[in-house]
Amino acid sequence: MDTSKLITFEGCEGAGKTTLAIDLGKRLLRHLNFEKPVLLTAEPCLNNFGLGVRDKLLSKSANSKRAELLLFAADRAEHCHNFIYPRLDEGAWVICDRFIDSSYANQGYGLGLPLRMVEAVNNIATGGLIPDLTIFLDINPRESLRRIDRPLDSIENSDIEFHERVYTGYKALCELYPKRIVAIDANRPFDTVADEIFKTTIDRLLP
Ligand code: TMP
Repeated sequence: MDTSKLITFEGCEGAGKTTLAIDLGKRLLRHLNFEKPVLLTAEPCLNNFGLGVRDKLLSKSANSKRAELLLFAADRAEHCHNFIYPRLDEGAWVICDRFIDSSYANQGYGLGLPLRMVEAVNNIATGGLIPDLTIFLDINPRESLRRIDRPLDSIENSDIEFHERVYTGYKALCELYPKRIVAIDANRPFDTVADEIFKTTIDRLLP
């Protein structure tokens, strides 16, 4: 596992995580001379299990906050077991669109579940796996939600106060884990943001 890396992307809805994660993956592949697998993945996962979790959440069929936390955690446990650990064991660089901090930000800060509870559940799900680097796309949800050019789903449509709490939560996580989480100002043009993410990744992980 020593040459493998886990990089996660975090941020509010519409911040640009998915496109920027893809961009970083392409740049890393070239930088590593195509000698290492650079793999992109996401949570909730895009397999049957994750899509089931996504469906349950979008249809609001989980009434309890703890059930919501556990649903994301069950998806994460499957993801770690089936994909992330095996790929890291093979020496890959894995880029994950959302991971443990999404649960801290959304279910912890957003819904108000105790952070210790979120931490305990995350640890069960991941077996203690912590990303080598987390890119937090720093853009206020009032701004990032405006960037979504399709009808909002039921989670994105939550009241703005919820999104603000999630954003504040991410900022608090940056303060708590400055060695792991880097805030990147995502209000700027795409290329500027993408360049900074790449530079930060190289500086931090290949010094
Ligand atoms: P996505 O829109 O980035 O695909 O994520 C789906 C939703 O799931 C998004 O609203 C954030 C939410 N989510 C959590 O609330 N907690 C989690 O642990 C994860 C992974 C996602």
